[in-house]
Amino acid sequence: MDTDRLLRELTDFLRIPSISTLSTHDRDCRRAAEWVAAELRRLGCTGVELLASESHPVVWGVGPEVPGAPTLVIYGHYDVQPPDPLDEWTTPPFEPAVRDGRLYARGSADDKGQVFCLLKAIEAGGVPRVNFRFLIEGEEEHGSRVLFDLLKREPHRVRADAVLVADMAYFAPGWPAVYSTLRGLCYAEITVRTSKTDLHSGEYGGAAPNAHEELCRLLGRLKGPDGKINIPGLYQAVKPPTRAERAAWRRLPFKEKAFLDRQVQAKALTGLKTHTVLERLWALPTFEIHGISGGFTGEGAKTVIPAQATAKVSLRLVPNQKMKTVERQLEAAVKKLAPKYVDASVTFLHGADPARMKLSNPVFRKLDQAFREVVGRAPVAARAGGSIPIVPALASAGAPVVMTGIGLPDDRLHAPNEKLDLQQLWDGIEVFKRFYELLGSD
Ligand code: BES
Ligand code: MN
Ligand code: MN
Repeated sequence: MDTDRLLRELTDFLRIPSISTLSTHDRDCRRAAEWVAAELRRLGCTGVELLASESHPVVWGVGPEVPGAPTLVIYGHYDVQPPDPLDEWTTPPFEPAVRDGRLYARGSADDKGQVFCLLKAIEAGGVPRVNFRFLIEGEEEHGSRVLFDLLKREPHRVRADAVLVADMAYFAPGWPAVYSTLRGLCYAEITVRTSKTDLHSGEYGGAAPNAHEELCRLLGRLKGPDGKINIPGLYQAVKPPTRAERAAWRRLPFKEKAFLDRQVQAKALTGLKTHTVLERLWALPTFEIHGISGGFTGEGAKTVIPAQATAKVSLRLVPNQKMKTVERQLEAAVKKLAPKYVDASVTFLHGADPARMKLSNPVFRKLDQAFREVVGRAPVAARAGGSIPIVPALASAGAPVVMTGIGLPDDRLHAPNEKLDLQQLWDGIEVFKRFYELLGSD
């Protein structure tokens, strides 16, 4: 393997700041799509197209036809999350740098590095006896609206024998994983308005309502200190894991202390203490506050009673919950928990239903074999705490969706100093090369 060349090519891809949620980066997203399209053409794809959007197009390609061979859809995303806080990066997010065998850059693990891995595994193996279809989108980090609409109009694009998604991580170093569920998401802004305009805090303080105070109290009511979310009906649909699943999770190489010290790097874990950490991450809904804005946060001091405050929040959803239902439940809870004198409103930004996949299709045994041969261990069945909005739609034509990945749990997705261990990438190329061979060998 010419690892120098591969590293150069991946570096070119990672240099493009394809941040889908910021419209100032629309042109960069387009450039990243074109980079992927050029790779697909190099792989001999026909009908390479940028579909459905000027700014965040879906890259589509059809590999060389192999009559009688199985069809595999490869899904991935070329968009990335915003890189802030910038001053916490050791080297800038879009200037990829290698330190200690790790490649540091926004998108190195999520998901450009993994898309790169799946494509280079095709090149590495001669031409596998597989009919490849590529669906590499540019809005995954932003709710996948473009791809949703595309697949609604043209569901035949995911008619296949299997779909491969490499947008996750190993369960632990040396322990590859295959995922049976993803959590869903419901992302919203809660806005609280308490008066017509801001007020002097001396003239009115003590008698006038304060939007930030009301918002804080409202948020505090939505989730208690014990981690229980106080949204009526929220837990009703939650399907608890089976006894067999719970037992299997207890056998995984997971140590709470190492998770706290090495990954979370905080002083304590929080959440519903009645459930194990893996249950809290994989089988229970969450409520998170992402940011609060409004009032005065500039330099110096301003004595003001803010009239308005907004919090960006999201809930993660688990199997059997429905995004639409949770939207209604959140809105009703906000209306109920806010005092009468406060105008509280909820705006939904994006979201996804949770996904569930049975791991019984024979294609999973081929993945087992490929990992076993290359890294010495078959993937363990895990669940994902994260979300990939389009997965339920990928599964809608009936093909098994193979969800796996080459990242490691400490890759710091969405955070400063995101990285990909290069050995994981080189191994990954071998794993998927073997997986494609096995797929084509029936
Ligand atoms: N690759 C992640 C999802 C993921 C992360 C799955 C870790 C399993 C383990 C994906 O790119 C992602 O971050 N998705 C967003 C979706 C959202 C913005 C709609 C997420 O989960 O926050
Ligand atoms: Mn991803
Ligand atoms: Mn992501």
